[in-house]
Amino acid sequence: MSAPTPVRIALFGAGRIGHVHANNISALPDAELVVIADPFIDGARALATATGSVAVASPEEVFAREDIDAVVIGSPTNTHVDLITRAAGRGLAVLCEKPIDLDIASVRACQEKLGDRASQVMLGFNRRFDPSFASVQRRVAAGEVGKLEQLIIISRDPEPAPRGYLETSGGIFRDMSIHDLDMARFFVPDIVEVTATGSNTFSSDIRELGDYDTATITLRGANGELITIINSRHCAFGYDQRIEAFGSGGMLSAGNRGETTVQKFDAAGTGQADVHLPFFLERYAQAYLEELKAFVAGIRNGTGFSPGFHDGVAALELADAAITSADTGTTQNTEKARV
Ligand SMILES: NC(=O)c1ccc[n+]([C@@H]2O[C@H](COP(=O)([O-])OP(=O)(O)OC[C@H]3O[C@@H](n4cnc5c(N)ncnc54)[C@H](O)[C@@H]3O)[C@@H](O)[C@H]2O)c1
Repeated sequence: MSAPTPVRIALFGAGRIGHVHANNISALPDAELVVIADPFIDGARALATATGSVAVASPEEVFAREDIDAVVIGSPTNTHVDLITRAAGRGLAVLCEKPIDLDIASVRACQEKLGDRASQVMLGFNRRFDPSFASVQRRVAAGEVGKLEQLIIISRDPEPAPRGYLETSGGIFRDMSIHDLDMARFFVPDIVEVTATGSNTFSSDIRELGDYDTATITLRGANGELITIINSRHCAFGYDQRIEAFGSGGMLSAGNRGETTVQKFDAAGTGQADVHLPFFLERYAQAYLEELKAFVAGIRNGTGFSPGFHDGVAALELADAAITSADTGTTQNTEKARV
């Protein structure tokens, strides 16, 4: 029997996340990286050469092709709405990086324009595919800790991004917390209340930009669950990514990961482990691969995509509610959103 025809994919963006997706597409036997589009053509060419693909400078050169089944959008956030609309309009499946856009009005307009075609879009909330977090979520859903009462999501970056990035990032809630807000919805789809506080504890750059470097968000789920998200733009001990799900019958938790699990015990101290994996590219390497496998499987099997476009809308709505809450010192009631 001959091997199934691979899903033929075009990639937009040959930057940080573009490299991850290009390498993962190339690694999957049932996917083929056909073309990489990036106006920075030298970058696209280098990545295309490394992955056996071809490089083009403009989206038009991608959309003119007949040999594409799907697109992966890893270009800057302000290109997402346009590329999603054009790709889905041509009947292509889409895996788009988060966030869809920084402006909820433009996201909603895009959703309206897409109509039923929104179901062709998968959102790149990669943390749902982290094997540890996915396992905690599955086991909570299976009732292993009884009724979920509290969820704690800790997400701290090792250090702030450069000022140039921060200026256009949309702020800590839309840029950083959005991953954690989606993680919250992964466990508790219906969030009815958002209370957030932000603080400027260490970065004058971030303060000057009118943003916070430190934030805490409390969400209330429809069944009374309380979810606490703790974010910082810096962390002296590295990239800090943890989850704790506490229920009536116990707790499930997933901690940080180092290169190995080796620990040192001596007269100077106990339980000294390797430093954490440095940042998202390393910590979530497996998650990005699993995400891509799910995208390709969704196309092959016709089973659809999760997380979808509506999850991107819901996470951005929660981020906006967090901004309003932090800026005004009020709790925001949010419409119920379903995974
Ligand atoms: N899921 C995650 O963990 C994660 C991590 C990093 C970035 N992201 C998201 O991925 C997107 C890209 O981020 P990055 O860090 O890779 O940025 P980057 O700046 O490293 O790369 C972006 C690339 O896109 C190219 N580009 C610009 N306009 C384009 C267009 N119209 N078509 C095709 N390519 C275009 C740029 O030349 C650049 O090479 C952002 O939306 C970001 O939020 C997600």
